[in-house]
Formats: sequence, C-alpha cells, structure tokens
Amino acid sequence: MNMYDLIVKKKRGGELTDEEIRWMIREYTDGNIPDYQMSAMMMAICFVGMTDMETKDLTLAMAHSGDMLDLSEIHGIKVDKHSTGGVGDKTSLVLAPLAASVGVPVAKMSGRGLGHTGGTIDKLESFTGFHTDLTPEQFVRNVNTIHIAIAGQTANLAPADKKLYALRDVTGTVDQMSLIASSIMSKKLASGADGIVLDVKTGDGAFMKSLPDARALATEMVSIGKLAGKDVSAVISDMDQPLGNAVGNALEVREAIDTLRGHGPEDLEELVLTLGSLMTVKAGKAENTEQARTMLKENLENGEAFLVFREFIRAQGGDPDEAEHPELLPAAAYQKEILSDRTGYVSDIHTEEIGKICMFLGGGRETKESEIDLAVGLVLRRKKGAYVQKGEPLAVIHANSMEKLEEAEERHLKAYEFTSEKPVLEPLIREIIG
Ligand code: URA
Repeated sequence: MNMYDLIVKKKRGGELTDEEIRWMIREYTDGNIPDYQMSAMMMAICFVGMTDMETKDLTLAMAHSGDMLDLSEIHGIKVDKHSTGGVGDKTSLVLAPLAASVGVPVAKMSGRGLGHTGGTIDKLESFTGFHTDLTPEQFVRNVNTIHIAIAGQTANLAPADKKLYALRDVTGTVDQMSLIASSIMSKKLASGADGIVLDVKTGDGAFMKSLPDARALATEMVSIGKLAGKDVSAVISDMDQPLGNAVGNALEVREAIDTLRGHGPEDLEELVLTLGSLMTVKAGKAENTEQARTMLKENLENGEAFLVFREFIRAQGGDPDEAEHPELLPAAAYQKEILSDRTGYVSDIHTEEIGKICMFLGGGRETKESEIDLAVGLVLRRKKGAYVQKGEPLAVIHANSMEKLEEAEERHLKAYEFTSEKPVLEPLIREIIG
C-alpha cells in the first residue's frame, strides 16, 4: 500500500477500505507519511467526501491509534460533553463545574483552539499555573473527590486525531462533516465516558453553516456513538452570533465566572442549562430534564457551582484567587469602545469574522506553532435584535497593539448589519437529537 495511490483513489471519488484507512492512520501516527501527503488527502476528502462506512472506519482507527482509557475506577456514570466549536463558546467552563456541583462525575478531555474557534484548555490557561497534564491517577482521584477533572488530549489519547487536528487547522481542511464527526467521536470513544452530550453549532460562526448540515453531523455522531455502545444526545444550537458577549480567552473566562455566580448572559446560561440537564439525567442524578434544570439553576444562584470551579482551578495547579478577583487575569494594554456608524436594529453579526478578528488580535493560532495572547479579544455590547443609535457602543476591543486595534475596529464595524425593521431571531436551541 502507498499513500500516493490512496490520495489519487480518493481524489477520483473512490471509497477507501477499512484496511486502507487503518494503514494510513497507523503510518501517519508513526511519522511514516509526511504532512504534505496527509494534507492532500484531507483536501481530497473535503472535495469528494466520505461514505458512512469510511467515516466509521476512520473514527475507530483514530480512537484505537492510542490508549483506550479505562475510567472504571471513577464512581458513577461518567458523562462527557463536546462542542463542535464556535465563537465565544465558553460553555464548558461553566457547564463542567456546574454539572459536577450536582454530583455528575465530569471526566473531561478538552482541546485547544481550532481555526477561528477557541479551545477550553487555552482559556483555562489564563489562570496562573493551571495545567491539564494530569497523571491517570490524579485524573481519577480528582473526579472521585471533587467530581471534576479536565485533561488535555494526552499524547496517547487518539494521537492520530491530535496530529491530524493540528494539520487540518492550518491547511483549511477543518470544515468537512465526516472529518469533524470522526475527529470528535474518536476522542470521545477513546476517553471512556459512558454518556456523551454533543453541542453541535450551526450558523455563520460554526463549521456547519446550515441547519441541515448541522443536523446531518449531529445524526452521524449520535449513530457512531450508539454503534460503540454509548448513550449519546446532540443539541443543535445557534452560532449565528457569538455566544454570550466575550470573545477571547481571558475575557471569556471572566464571563464564565459571572455566569457561575448567577449573573451571566442569558443565552450562555440557557445553553448551559439545556446541556447540563441532559448530562444530569444521563448520569442518573435526576429523573427528568425539568428536575435537573431546577437543581442546576439553584447551584448557579447559591454559589455551589462557583465553589466547585474554584476547587477545580486549585486542584489543577491554578490560583483560585484569580477566580475570586478576575481583574487579576491577563488584561490587554489597550481597550477601545467601537461606536456604531449607523442607526437601526442589529440584523446580522458576521460571526466567523468576529472570531477571525479575535485571531488577528492574537487570540487564536494561525500556524501550529503560534503562541496565543490570552488577554486580547472583544466584548460585544450589542447583539442581534438590539436597537442602536449612531454613536452608541457596539463592542469594546481589547488589544496589545495600537495598529491591530485600529484594523480590528474597521473590520468590526463591517461585521455588523442593520435594518430599520426589528428582525425575527432564530431560537438558541434549534433541535435535540437522540
Ligand atoms: N472539534 C474537534 O474535536 N474536531 C474537529 O474536527 C472540529 C471540532
């Protein structure tokens, strides 16, 4: 078998066999297939697609490319959550400690930013000293004692996906449905949870721009999970505007802290409660989603969820005082209010562009080796449906370079659309599958 033949076969519309996929994944993981050949294969898949069988085979090959974690030493039914990636998506920062606060064992593997979307681990590294390289023993002990641990994708958890994910990120090959489904599900299968709640984003800021594509991705992931004997549900949620107001690592952490203290933005809290209710029921901690929602809401309001968050930051080497005093988190040198140049209702926000502005400011990676600037980003002051007068603030930009700030301001103004009629907004939660 050789990679050149497989690339040509895929390029011409052929279907790769299980044996070919397993060979390709093994050889790539071992370093015997160079990145340029794998990039060509990924691009061919973007153009030609993969069948359901190829997607399942790729998922299993990547899941088995490293260790399959055994979480049997963790008490209770383990439920994981995963998002397909969005702009301002700090859901896990709130959801993980909140679910843990009602007794759900949260044993979570998280990733770093991808393309214009941010990653949970990058955000959590806003806390001085916080780290995710836990030994398996620490991971199990933390979940058994404080119900929560978040680990990075360790070298040996689906290493094939780890390598491919980084390659796709910088070769424009992220937004292909079967590649996303197999990437997410390979990690979820290898990380050993009994139940999985997926947050599949749809809209301009998501990899799946349309609802039918998001539905197809959700259905594909739910069926891969079920085939592997897992209890999986998917929530399809709106990404036609950033989630919450903050976009950028430390800025999102601050907003997550506000939400954990019961005064976060409505859309973020609603999404957290919807996903959290499903997790709580799957973990057997509530009889139905209504009961679960009441328990979760209570813990946002009575401070329990925030207490767990502090404990979690401490348990993973971070400074919990920075959670108590978020002004200690990284902050940018320059902040500027962006004033609207028009009057009207905000009818559209080019969400992917907002994510890209954050990247441009330094908040995301442009190459595999890029360092992230944790402090920079944007905080929206007006979202879709709001009425804005010319001269009123649309957002605040946080930057560490005056030049970048100016360009970001120009781009931000162009990312907003206005109408004279109040627009009809799509609901935040579009559908729940499985
Ligand atoms: N998240 C993942 O884990 N993988 C993808 O390919 C896209 C989003």
